Amino acid sequence: MTVHLNTAGAGLMPAEVVDTMRAHLAEEAAEGAYETELRHADVLEQGVYRTLAEVLDAPVADVALFDSATRAWNSVVGALPLTGTDRLWITPYEYAGNLILWTELRSRTGLRIEVVPLTSSGDLDLDWMRRNIREDVCLVSVPHVPSGCGIVNPVEEIGRILAPWPCLYLVDACQSVGQLDVSVRRIGCDLLTGAGRKFLRGPRGTGFAAIGARLRAIAAPSFHDLHVAEVTSAHRYGIHTDSARRFEYAERSGAAVRGLHTALRHHLARTDAPDTGQHTRAAVRDTIDSLPGTRLIDPGTRHASIVTFVCEHLHAARIRDELTSRGINVWVAQGNHTPLYLPGQGVEQAVRVSPHYYNSPKDIESFGQALQEVIR
Ligand SMILES: Cc1ncc(COP(=O)(O)O)c(C=O)c1O
Repeated sequence: MTVHLNTAGAGLMPAEVVDTMRAHLAEEAAEGAYETELRHADVLEQGVYRTLAEVLDAPVADVALFDSATRAWNSVVGALPLTGTDRLWITPYEYAGNLILWTELRSRTGLRIEVVPLTSSGDLDLDWMRRNIREDVCLVSVPHVPSGCGIVNPVEEIGRILAPWPCLYLVDACQSVGQLDVSVRRIGCDLLTGAGRKFLRGPRGTGFAAIGARLRAIAAPSFHDLHVAEVTSAHRYGIHTDSARRFEYAERSGAAVRGLHTALRHHLARTDAPDTGQHTRAAVRDTIDSLPGTRLIDPGTRHASIVTFVCEHLHAARIRDELTSRGINVWVAQGNHTPLYLPGQGVEQAVRVSPHYYNSPKDIESFGQALQEVIR
């Protein structure tokens, strides 16, 4: 049996998710895709939004579906009315894909991008944020958990710091939804985005956003698709919702959306102990730390289920490949996917190990034995 320790890439889908998707595709092939969509309209048009809203602890009118977290992020952030007088705060843990859009927006508008500093422990410097926040900071972007290391950024505390100020607050929760308790209400953010395939164990090709009313009121999407808009003349069209679904496109995979719905319900029905992730992570971390020649990339004081490390005498890709051939899945974290942090730590590539609640202590033992063989 394969030991899957690459949930930060994509988690293992539960059997119910696969069954839902298979049944949906079979129905489409036998009865027609539009007809199948109509038959499952209760889930596709309402149920999945209600369940997602419950998982994110957000109003149902705020949630929207996309085909990736990046699509969700770009569809919303690209619609913001940013100008050259705006200051934008990002962190050293910003995801490279999000940075590409910030860079693009800076070259289009002239907005200023500032990077929140870290403390000596690698945590975001919240005192710096408290001291420096001003009216002209228009937007603050924080990844809850970055893609290249396991630090958990204190998004709720940051929300409380920003609450009295007019800035928009954006949280990339791609690596946290499904493994941490994520509540849009408690975070107090205007946008939270994520992917279905990672710790939620949904299918590939699914992403989502919670887009708050304050942000929706000022955003101007460059396009509205026909599930929310109606063309009334050659020069005019109307939009019949102000919900977050305005940011979606109409076409999507019914199988993927229903698979995501099943994954969300599966997540809500979880009965594993809340600290399973912490125990497993600690076991992975200790296993790696005990092996000579390894260096953990482990900044910060709070950690999620992602452990990254480098080995002084073996490339990360070689370690990944050797472990795969022994039935252990890990992945290579590219330094330039967390470009404001990892390269500064001397990391071009690192091995990323990301267990989930489905991994047993025996799995971690097998990982430890295999890793010892590979890097000895
Ligand atoms: C922190 C973070 N944000 C965003 C993304 C992008 O997600 P997607 O590949 O679904 O667009 C990733 C992907 O790994 C990620 O780790």
